[in-house]
Amino acid sequence: MELSLLINKFNIKGRLVALQPFGHGNINDTFLAIYRNTFTETQVVLQKVNKKVFPEPEVIMENMHEVTRHCHDKLEDDAVHGRDDRVWQMPRIIKAKDSKDYVIDDKGEVWRVITRIMSAHAFELAQGPEHALECGAALGHFHYLISDMDPKLIKDPLPGFHITSGYLKAYDRTLKTKGAKALIGASMEAKRLLKFVEERRDLALCLEKAEKRGELKKRMFHGDPKVNNIMIDDVTGKGTAMIDLDTVSPGLIHIDFGDALRSICNPAGEEETNLAKVVFDEDLAMAFCKGYMREAGSFLTDADREYLFDSIRLLPFELGLRFFQDYLAGNVYFKTSKPEQNLNRARVQFRLCESIEARERSIRNVLKKL
Ligand SMILES: Nc1ncnc2c1ncn2[C@@H]1O[C@H](COP(=O)(O)OP(=O)(O)O)[C@@H](O)[C@H]1O
Ligand SMILES: [Mg+2]
Repeated sequence: MELSLLINKFNIKGRLVALQPFGHGNINDTFLAIYRNTFTETQVVLQKVNKKVFPEPEVIMENMHEVTRHCHDKLEDDAVHGRDDRVWQMPRIIKAKDSKDYVIDDKGEVWRVITRIMSAHAFELAQGPEHALECGAALGHFHYLISDMDPKLIKDPLPGFHITSGYLKAYDRTLKTKGAKALIGASMEAKRLLKFVEERRDLALCLEKAEKRGELKKRMFHGDPKVNNIMIDDVTGKGTAMIDLDTVSPGLIHIDFGDALRSICNPAGEEETNLAKVVFDEDLAMAFCKGYMREAGSFLTDADREYLFDSIRLLPFELGLRFFQDYLAGNVYFKTSKPEQNLNRARVQFRLCESIEARERSIRNVLKKL
């Protein structure tokens, strides 16, 4: 179906004057639509939910409905009581003309329209400590917003997502295959990574064990708090919204915390081939943590704080493990353009993990003071 016919099924006022690809997301197909009328214009974001990643897109939309309803109520209440130093934003679902939250096209694909967060941008890389601080504040505030949501309202969007023990099991199964044995036999670097994983099996389970012991509790988490899912206000330079709400679900907020730091504090990026350039940037980390604690500090327990360092160390390890497993399995999950790409991605994440381990004392000190 043509895109303009598709978006016409949604309830948006004005005349459609532009419809073009938008943003740099790599999961969903995203378009910007501009509608005009005599006085003003309305900009909305049209997205096709990726069925390969989310086998049940309708569930994703039901979840989004619950999350946005909860957060909008809270945001309005906070605005009335003047709680905030800024206007925090969150996209709203624009309904279809048949009052549903989405439209299914002739190929069975699920499409949604949400409001565009105006005069704001998400960056691909951390721009400096001020930006990192605002990313931390945006994630902390988002955690505050969803902290009192009933997890039962949400269905699991991606079973197994961020369960490190599950990734470790998949890795162990892969190790037993002929293909994996051949790849390890042929490469010194693969042998080194194998040893790296063996030395950190305890790390892989640290958060899950803490949860089993009752020290950590599942709350709601974002699931993908990367720097390009955090919108920064063009006018004030402040964080204003978290977007990409598809994976918001019950989980440990530590996963978000560690994952955000993993993406923000590695300015070399995930594809760097010169490992000497991969370092955990402590200035960015300190700024991020400061912003995060300002918004989330009030509802974190002592046990929550106790495990923040472990989460910073765990998340690069977990992603590196997933890249390494995929390399050994023949590159079946993560897209690659070169055969060794997943091996190199694993090297980068493991180097980041080592860099965090080398800075343990100093990172723990920073966390203690916040
Ligand atoms: N509501 C919105 N307001 C402004 N920009 C948006 C909005 N939703 C998405 N975008 C832009 O589109 C990009 C991709 O959208 P996102 O929901 O993150 O999809 P993906 O899951 O593919 O990453 C974002 O990085 C952002 O630049
Ligand atoms: Mg995104």
